[in-house]
Amino acid sequence: MSDTEKDLLEGQTVAIIGAGSMGGSIARGLVESGALPGEQVLVCDHNPGKLAALAQQAGVRTFSSSAEMLAEKPGIVVLAVKPQVLAAVLEQHAADLDGALVVSIAAGVTLATLEAALPGARVVRVMPNLPVSVRSGASAITGGASAGEADVATVQALFATLGSARSGARSSSTPRVRSWAVRRPTSPSWSTPSRAPASARACAPRTPARW
Ligand SMILES: NC(=O)c1ccc[n+]([C@@H]2O[C@H](COP(=O)([O-])OP(=O)(O)OC[C@H]3O[C@@H](n4cnc5c(N)ncnc54)[C@H](OP(=O)(O)O)[C@@H]3O)[C@@H](O)[C@H]2O)c1
Repeated sequence: MSDTEKDLLEGQTVAIIGAGSMGGSIARGLVESGALPGEQVLVCDHNPGKLAALAQQAGVRTFSSSAEMLAEKPGIVVLAVKPQVLAAVLEQHAADLDGALVVSIAAGVTLATLEAALPGARVVRVMPNLPVSVRSGASAITGGASAGEADVATVQALFATLGSARSGARSSSTPRVRSWAVRRPTSPSWSTPSRAPASARACAPRTPARW
């Protein structure tokens, strides 16, 4: 990852809901790449065995309760549960995620669905592939209408710890903020990136969404 990507992640706290194949890979990748120290990576899951293994391997902080984890107000929250349980997670945590930068990796769950469920969050959708587990993956990133260029750049930096990460067309839905604006948190209690590279602030042309 580049120095710019390192800068975007520096000081961030990343919380991951779901410590399965993908959630575990993201947690390990963030620490093993040197992007974040383990104490800035929070992971929750139902399964204590998965959490114990991750804590041992990567030194991340683990939680058996997602509510307890989100009470720490992490700046970035990655939803790494199966698509069929995502609706329940979104419903449970819609209020908790107000003002957060939320990343969904759920296959088949659209940005429109995510943004309708999380009206107060800045949402970015990512589609990684399995080789992220050995940090040789390829991830496609699309920002929702509520996400700014700095949000997309930050998520791209996060997935660059796991291989190549490319951001593509933005959501075609009506933007709630201008696409080139650096979005500020709606709640001062959430920590969000304050830096954006010049490239992230540039006015990018809008193209049709691919998702
Ligand atoms: N695997 C891939 O190659 C791949 C590629 C691209 C995208 N994705 C997406 O990545 C997401 C995760 O996939 P995965 O393969 O990592 O699934 P997984 O291995 O089943 O991991 C999901 C984990 O989340 C836990 N979980 C379920 N509900 C939870 C809750 N409310 N709070 C905390 N943890 C909870 C599960 O525990 P239990 O098992 O006890 O329910 C499980 O440990 C999916 O949405 C999938 O579409 C996966």
